[in-house]
Amino acid sequence: MTAPILETPKLRIPRIGLGTWQLRGAEATAAVAGAISLGYRHIDTASMYGNEEAVGAGIAGSGVKREDIFLTTKVWWTELAPDALRASAEASLKRLATPYADLILIHWPAKGMDLSAALTALAQLKSDGLARAVGVSNFPPGLLKQALDLSIAPIAALQVECHVYLWQEKLAALCRANDLAMTAYSPIAKAQVNDDPVMQAIARRHGATPVQVAIAWLMAQQNLVAIPKSGRAEGQKDNLAAASMALTAGDLAEIAALPKDRRLVNPDFAPDWAA
Ligand SMILES: NC(=O)c1ccc[n+]([C@@H]2O[C@H](COP(=O)([O-])OP(=O)(O)OC[C@H]3O[C@@H](n4cnc5c(N)ncnc54)[C@H](OP(=O)(O)O)[C@@H]3O)[C@@H](O)[C@H]2O)c1
Repeated sequence: MTAPILETPKLRIPRIGLGTWQLRGAEATAAVAGAISLGYRHIDTASMYGNEEAVGAGIAGSGVKREDIFLTTKVWWTELAPDALRASAEASLKRLATPYADLILIHWPAKGMDLSAALTALAQLKSDGLARAVGVSNFPPGLLKQALDLSIAPIAALQVECHVYLWQEKLAALCRANDLAMTAYSPIAKAQVNDDPVMQAIARRHGATPVQVAIAWLMAQQNLVAIPKSGRAEGQKDNLAAASMALTAGDLAEIAALPKDRRLVNPDFAPDWAA
Protein backbone atom coordinates (compact mmCIF):
# COMPACT_ATOMS: atom_id res chain seq x y z
CA MET A 1 0.00 0.00 0.00
CA THR A 2 1.24 3.50 -0.80
CA ALA A 3 -0.23 6.84 0.21
CA PRO A 4 -2.18 9.00 -2.24
CA ILE A 5 -0.15 11.81 -3.80
CA LEU A 6 -0.88 15.51 -3.41
CA GLU A 7 -0.01 17.28 -6.61
CA THR A 8 0.31 21.06 -6.65
CA PRO A 9 1.91 23.26 -9.31
CA LYS A 10 5.07 23.24 -7.12
CA LEU A 11 5.17 19.79 -5.57
CA ARG A 12 4.29 16.10 -5.80
CA ILE A 13 4.19 14.78 -2.25
CA PRO A 14 2.78 11.59 -0.70
CA ARG A 15 -0.04 12.62 1.65
CA ILE A 16 1.25 10.36 4.44
CA GLY A 17 4.86 10.53 5.54
CA LEU A 18 6.80 9.08 8.44
CA GLY A 19 7.67 11.55 11.20
CA THR A 20 11.01 10.74 12.81
CA TRP A 21 11.32 13.17 15.73
CA GLN A 22 12.73 11.33 18.76
CA LEU A 23 13.76 8.28 16.74
CA ARG A 24 17.51 7.88 17.03
CA GLY A 25 20.31 5.59 15.90
CA ALA A 26 19.53 1.99 15.03
CA GLU A 27 15.89 2.43 16.03
CA ALA A 28 15.52 5.27 13.52
CA THR A 29 17.25 3.27 10.76
CA ALA A 30 15.01 0.26 11.36
CA ALA A 31 11.86 2.42 11.59
CA VAL A 32 12.63 4.17 8.29
CA ALA A 33 13.57 0.98 6.42
CA GLY A 34 10.54 -0.80 7.89
CA ALA A 35 8.18 2.02 6.94
CA ILE A 36 9.49 2.03 3.37
CA SER A 37 8.96 -1.73 3.14
CA LEU A 38 5.34 -1.14 4.26
CA GLY A 39 4.85 1.36 1.42
CA TYR A 40 5.85 4.73 2.89
CA ARG A 41 7.53 6.94 0.30
CA HIS A 42 7.81 10.13 2.35
CA ILE A 43 10.16 10.62 5.31
CA ASP A 44 10.38 13.73 7.50
CA THR A 45 13.52 14.64 9.42
CA ALA A 46 15.43 17.77 10.52
CA SER A 47 18.97 18.71 11.44
CA MET A 48 17.71 19.27 15.01
CA TYR A 49 16.43 15.67 15.34
CA GLY A 50 20.00 14.36 15.45
CA ASN A 51 19.00 11.37 13.34
CA GLU A 52 19.84 12.30 9.76
CA GLU A 53 22.64 9.72 9.44
CA ALA A 54 20.34 7.02 10.76
CA VAL A 55 17.47 8.14 8.51
CA GLY A 56 19.79 8.17 5.49
CA ALA A 57 20.96 4.66 6.36
CA GLY A 58 17.32 3.50 6.57
CA ILE A 59 16.60 4.89 3.11
CA ALA A 60 19.80 3.45 1.64
CA GLY A 61 19.10 0.04 3.16
CA SER A 62 15.44 -0.06 2.10
CA GLY A 63 16.10 -1.31 -1.42
CA VAL A 64 13.85 1.45 -2.80
CA LYS A 65 15.52 3.94 -5.14
CA ARG A 66 16.31 7.34 -3.70
CA GLU A 67 14.28 9.09 -6.41
CA ASP A 68 11.19 7.18 -5.35
CA ILE A 69 11.35 8.60 -1.82
CA PHE A 70 10.21 12.09 -0.83
CA LEU A 71 12.67 13.30 1.80
CA THR A 72 12.21 16.45 3.87
CA THR A 73 14.78 18.06 6.16
CA LYS A 74 14.88 21.37 7.98
CA VAL A 75 17.27 24.15 8.96
CA TRP A 76 17.19 25.20 12.64
CA TRP A 77 16.22 28.79 13.53
CA THR A 78 19.70 29.69 14.82
CA GLU A 79 21.12 28.99 11.33
CA LEU A 80 19.13 31.42 9.20
CA ALA A 81 21.90 33.85 8.23
CA PRO A 82 22.66 33.04 4.56
CA ASP A 83 26.04 31.33 5.07
CA ALA A 84 24.79 29.39 8.09
CA LEU A 85 21.66 28.26 6.26
CA ARG A 86 23.71 27.02 3.33
CA ALA A 87 26.17 25.23 5.63
CA SER A 88 23.32 23.62 7.58
CA ALA A 89 21.66 22.30 4.42
CA GLU A 90 24.96 20.96 3.08
CA ALA A 91 25.71 19.23 6.39
CA SER A 92 22.21 17.69 6.43
CA LEU A 93 22.65 16.27 2.93
CA LYS A 94 26.06 14.89 3.87
CA ARG A 95 24.59 13.14 6.92
CA LEU A 96 21.63 11.89 4.88
CA ALA A 97 24.10 10.65 2.24
CA THR A 98 22.09 12.13 -0.61
CA PRO A 99 22.86 14.90 -3.11
CA TYR A 100 19.44 16.54 -2.65
CA ALA A 101 16.41 16.74 -0.42
CA ASP A 102 12.94 16.85 -1.95
CA LEU A 103 12.01 19.62 0.44
CA ILE A 104 14.10 21.82 2.71
CA LEU A 105 12.24 23.92 5.26
CA ILE A 106 13.12 26.74 7.60
CA HIS A 107 12.22 24.85 10.81
CA TRP A 108 11.13 27.87 12.88
CA PRO A 109 11.28 31.60 12.24
CA ALA A 110 13.74 33.47 14.47
CA LYS A 111 12.76 36.65 16.28
CA GLY A 112 14.22 39.63 14.42
CA MET A 113 15.39 37.47 11.52
CA ASP A 114 16.31 39.00 8.18
CA LEU A 115 13.48 37.34 6.26
CA SER A 116 14.63 38.47 2.80
CA ALA A 117 18.16 37.20 3.37
CA ALA A 118 16.96 33.82 4.67
CA LEU A 119 14.54 33.43 1.75
CA THR A 120 17.28 34.34 -0.71
CA ALA A 121 19.52 31.61 0.74
CA LEU A 122 16.60 29.18 0.71
CA ALA A 123 15.86 29.95 -2.95
CA GLN A 124 19.54 29.37 -3.73
CA LEU A 125 19.28 25.81 -2.34
CA LYS A 126 16.67 25.09 -4.97
CA SER A 127 18.45 26.78 -7.86
CA ASP A 128 21.67 24.93 -6.97
CA GLY A 129 19.88 21.57 -6.81
CA LEU A 130 20.34 20.88 -3.10
CA ALA A 131 16.56 21.01 -2.68
CA ARG A 132 13.91 20.06 -5.23
CA ALA A 133 11.51 22.37 -3.38
CA VAL A 134 11.67 24.70 -0.39
CA GLY A 135 9.29 25.88 2.28
CA VAL A 136 8.80 27.02 5.84
CA SER A 137 7.56 25.63 9.13
CA ASN A 138 5.94 27.26 12.16
CA PHE A 139 5.35 30.55 10.37
CA PRO A 140 2.29 32.42 11.69
CA PRO A 141 -0.12 33.82 9.05
CA GLY A 142 1.29 37.37 8.88
CA LEU A 143 4.84 36.14 8.43
CA LEU A 144 3.84 33.53 5.86
CA LYS A 145 1.97 36.20 3.89
CA GLN A 146 5.01 38.48 4.07
CA ALA A 147 7.26 35.65 2.83
CA LEU A 148 4.88 34.85 -0.04
CA ASP A 149 4.48 38.52 -0.99
CA LEU A 150 8.26 38.97 -1.18
CA SER A 151 8.31 36.32 -3.96
CA ILE A 152 11.96 35.59 -3.26
CA ALA A 153 11.74 31.84 -2.65
CA PRO A 154 9.23 29.55 -4.39
CA ILE A 155 7.62 28.43 -1.12
CA ALA A 156 5.94 25.12 -1.89
CA ALA A 157 4.92 23.92 1.57
CA LEU A 158 4.13 25.01 5.08
CA GLN A 159 4.64 22.54 7.94
CA VAL A 160 2.65 23.34 11.08
CA GLU A 161 0.99 21.63 14.00
CA CYS A 162 -2.43 20.47 12.89
CA HIS A 163 -4.82 17.84 14.24
CA VAL A 164 -8.42 17.38 15.34
CA TYR A 165 -7.77 19.72 18.31
CA LEU A 166 -5.92 22.45 16.38
CA TRP A 167 -7.10 24.00 13.14
CA GLN A 168 -5.48 27.20 11.83
CA GLU A 169 -7.86 28.46 9.15
CA LYS A 170 -5.86 31.59 8.25
CA LEU A 171 -2.84 29.41 7.44
CA ALA A 172 -4.95 26.83 5.61
CA ALA A 173 -6.57 29.56 3.50
CA LEU A 174 -3.15 31.02 2.61
CA CYS A 175 -1.96 27.55 1.59
CA ARG A 176 -5.03 26.91 -0.56
CA ALA A 177 -4.80 30.34 -2.23
CA ASN A 178 -1.07 29.99 -2.98
CA ASP A 179 -0.97 26.28 -3.92
CA LEU A 180 1.11 25.33 -0.89
CA ALA A 181 0.98 21.85 0.56
CA MET A 182 0.13 22.13 4.25
CA THR A 183 1.93 19.42 6.17
CA ALA A 184 0.35 18.60 9.52
CA TYR A 185 2.81 17.78 12.28
CA SER A 186 1.78 16.02 15.49
CA PRO A 187 -1.17 14.94 13.30
CA ILE A 188 -2.57 12.46 15.82
CA ALA A 189 -2.08 14.92 18.70
CA LYS A 190 0.70 12.69 20.02
CA ALA A 191 -1.83 9.82 20.30
CA GLN A 192 -4.05 11.79 22.72
CA VAL A 193 -6.99 11.09 20.38
CA ASN A 194 -6.96 7.50 21.62
CA ASP A 195 -8.40 8.68 24.97
CA ASP A 196 -11.16 10.79 23.43
CA PRO A 197 -14.70 9.33 23.71
CA VAL A 198 -15.88 11.17 20.55
CA MET A 199 -12.98 9.79 18.53
CA GLN A 200 -13.45 6.34 20.08
CA ALA A 201 -17.14 6.28 19.08
CA ILE A 202 -16.38 7.26 15.47
CA ALA A 203 -13.57 4.69 15.34
CA ARG A 204 -15.90 1.93 16.59
CA ARG A 205 -18.36 2.67 13.77
CA HIS A 206 -15.55 2.16 11.22
CA GLY A 207 -13.85 -0.78 12.90
CA ALA A 208 -10.80 1.49 13.12
CA THR A 209 -8.75 3.22 15.83
CA PRO A 210 -9.12 6.84 16.98
CA VAL A 211 -5.64 7.52 15.58
CA GLN A 212 -6.82 6.33 12.17
CA VAL A 213 -9.89 8.56 12.38
CA ALA A 214 -7.62 11.52 13.20
CA ILE A 215 -5.54 10.84 10.08
CA ALA A 216 -8.62 10.28 7.90
CA TRP A 217 -9.95 13.68 9.08
CA LEU A 218 -6.75 15.37 7.88
CA MET A 219 -7.01 13.53 4.56
CA ALA A 220 -10.51 15.03 4.16
CA GLN A 221 -8.97 18.56 4.17
CA GLN A 222 -7.75 20.22 0.98
CA ASN A 223 -3.96 20.33 0.35
CA LEU A 224 -3.23 18.48 3.61
CA VAL A 225 -0.36 16.07 4.15
CA ALA A 226 0.24 14.27 7.49
CA ILE A 227 3.46 12.94 8.99
CA PRO A 228 2.53 10.72 11.96
CA LYS A 229 5.51 9.31 13.83
CA SER A 230 5.51 5.67 14.80
CA GLY A 231 8.53 3.58 15.60
CA ARG A 232 6.38 0.40 15.52
CA ALA A 233 5.47 -1.51 12.35
CA GLU A 234 1.90 -1.96 13.61
CA GLY A 235 1.46 1.78 14.17
CA GLN A 236 3.06 2.62 10.82
CA LYS A 237 0.77 0.16 9.02
CA ASP A 238 -2.38 1.51 10.71
CA ASN A 239 -1.40 5.09 9.98
CA LEU A 240 -0.79 4.44 6.29
CA ALA A 241 -4.04 2.46 5.96
CA ALA A 242 -5.97 5.42 7.41
CA ALA A 243 -5.35 7.33 4.16
CA SER A 244 -7.95 5.18 2.42
CA MET A 245 -10.66 5.55 5.12
CA ALA A 246 -13.68 7.65 4.23
CA LEU A 247 -15.42 9.51 7.04
CA THR A 248 -19.12 10.36 6.76
CA ALA A 249 -20.57 13.87 6.92
CA GLY A 250 -21.78 12.97 10.42
CA ASP A 251 -18.27 11.94 11.52
CA LEU A 252 -16.85 15.18 10.14
CA ALA A 253 -19.48 17.23 11.98
CA GLU A 254 -18.67 15.51 15.28
CA ILE A 255 -14.96 16.18 14.81
CA ALA A 256 -15.65 19.79 13.79
CA ALA A 257 -17.33 20.28 17.17
CA LEU A 258 -14.17 19.30 19.11
CA PRO A 259 -12.04 22.22 20.41
CA LYS A 260 -9.74 23.55 17.68
CA ASP A 261 -7.33 25.67 19.73
CA ARG A 262 -5.26 23.10 21.64
CA ARG A 263 -1.60 23.63 20.74
CA LEU A 264 0.80 20.90 21.93
CA VAL A 265 4.09 22.27 20.59
CA ASN A 266 4.92 25.73 21.91
CA PRO A 267 8.62 26.14 22.85
CA ASP A 268 9.91 29.41 24.33
CA PHE A 269 11.39 30.41 20.95
CA ALA A 270 8.00 30.01 19.19
CA PRO A 271 6.69 33.03 17.29
CA ASP A 272 3.63 35.02 18.29
CA TRP A 273 1.13 32.65 16.72
CA ALA A 274 -1.35 35.44 16.08
CA ALA A 275 1.19 37.53 14.14
N1 LIG B 1 8.19 21.25 12.16
C1 LIG B 1 8.15 21.09 13.46
O1 LIG B 1 8.47 22.00 14.24
C2 LIG B 1 7.70 19.79 14.03
C3 LIG B 1 7.30 19.72 15.37
C4 LIG B 1 6.86 18.49 15.86
C5 LIG B 1 6.83 17.38 15.01
N2 LIG B 1 7.26 17.46 13.72
C6 LIG B 1 7.27 16.29 12.80
O2 LIG B 1 5.98 15.68 12.88
C7 LIG B 1 6.15 14.30 13.24
C8 LIG B 1 4.95 13.79 14.02
O3 LIG B 1 4.68 14.57 15.15
P1 LIG B 1 4.91 14.02 16.65
O4 LIG B 1 5.98 13.02 16.64
O5 LIG B 1 5.04 15.24 17.50
O6 LIG B 1 3.51 13.40 17.07
P2 LIG B 1 2.41 12.40 16.45
O7 LIG B 1 2.83 11.84 15.18
O8 LIG B 1 1.10 13.14 16.53
O9 LIG B 1 2.34 11.26 17.58
C9 LIG B 1 3.39 10.38 17.82
C10 LIG B 1 3.03 9.49 19.01
O10 LIG B 1 1.90 8.69 18.69
C11 LIG B 1 2.23 7.30 18.82
N3 LIG B 1 1.56 6.58 17.72
C12 LIG B 1 1.84 6.69 16.40
N4 LIG B 1 1.01 5.94 15.66
C13 LIG B 1 0.18 5.33 16.53
C14 LIG B 1 -0.89 4.43 16.36
N5 LIG B 1 -1.28 4.02 15.14
N6 LIG B 1 -1.55 4.00 17.48
C15 LIG B 1 -1.15 4.43 18.71
N7 LIG B 1 -0.15 5.30 18.95
C16 LIG B 1 0.52 5.75 17.85
C17 LIG B 1 3.74 7.22 18.74
O11 LIG B 1 4.24 6.14 19.48
P3 LIG B 1 4.93 4.87 18.74
O12 LIG B 1 6.17 5.37 18.07
O13 LIG B 1 5.20 3.95 19.89
O14 LIG B 1 3.92 4.31 17.77
C18 LIG B 1 4.15 8.55 19.38
O15 LIG B 1 4.14 8.43 20.79
C19 LIG B 1 7.45 14.32 14.06
O16 LIG B 1 7.98 13.02 14.22
C20 LIG B 1 8.29 15.24 13.20
O17 LIG B 1 8.78 14.53 12.06
C21 LIG B 1 7.68 18.67 13.21
